[in-house]
Amino acid sequence: MDQSLTGKLPGHIAIIMDGNGRWAKNRGLPRTAGHRAGANAARAIISECRRLGIGVLTLYAFSSENWNRPKMEIAALFRLLLDFAARETPGMLEKGIRLNVIGDLDGLPLPQRAALKKSMETTSRCDSMLLNLALNYGARAEIIQAVKKLMASGSRPEDVTETSLGACLYTGGMPDPDLLIRASGEQRLSNFMLYQCAYSELYFTPTLWPDFDAAELAKALEAYASRERRFGKTGEQLAQGEGHGR
Ligand code: FPP
Repeated sequence: MDQSLTGKLPGHIAIIMDGNGRWAKNRGLPRTAGHRAGANAARAIISECRRLGIGVLTLYAFSSENWNRPKMEIAALFRLLLDFAARETPGMLEKGIRLNVIGDLDGLPLPQRAALKKSMETTSRCDSMLLNLALNYGARAEIIQAVKKLMASGSRPEDVTETSLGACLYTGGMPDPDLLIRASGEQRLSNFMLYQCAYSELYFTPTLWPDFDAAELAKALEAYASRERRFGKTGEQLAQGEGHGR
């Protein structure tokens, strides 16, 4: 990767890992083979982000809508998840990667829930990179649970602010994604981090997720570095150093 990008790297990258099924179909393989290849791509991108010094990486691994898929495919995804938690935890610990799940963890089957909780505990003191796995996640449901949490805490309407609501999201306390990547050519957000991505730069690539490697990530980072983020300000205001604001 171009060294000049070093100062222009995003602090938080969020990725919609799409195209596993098409990748498998193109090879005459079952969809589950695509997910296995997708999990391998995820491993490589996690390592690469850690190497580059990215602070937070969020991967969309299972949406609340994914329950509508065939039972066998869901089972295969959950096996991959169990395998990921078992096999990757020692490496994450070694590399200082803290695992966190965003989504309705309690809605996952018990073995996956237990393995992920264990992995989160084991890596809880790691501070080189935060890896959020979005599992059983939907952004609208996330916003609704945040509102419920606020109301349950006795907040009055005038207490509801971007800060107080943001703190009740699964990502409370984390910076918003600077860069959102979606693989496979689809250009939509699919109920992913709708609140947090208000000012994120969006990068869509036709590359199917299992083929998304370090070189593809470098292309996304180069595109990001070339964008002017204005947060609603004019170019002149930014040039005069009026900071980011919104
Ligand atoms: C979308 O491809 C991908 C998913 C629904 C699951 C993403 C999961 C993985 C990459 C594997 C598990 C990851 C980890 C980190 C253990 P698709 O099936 O919708 O593809 P298609 O649109 O081509 O059919």
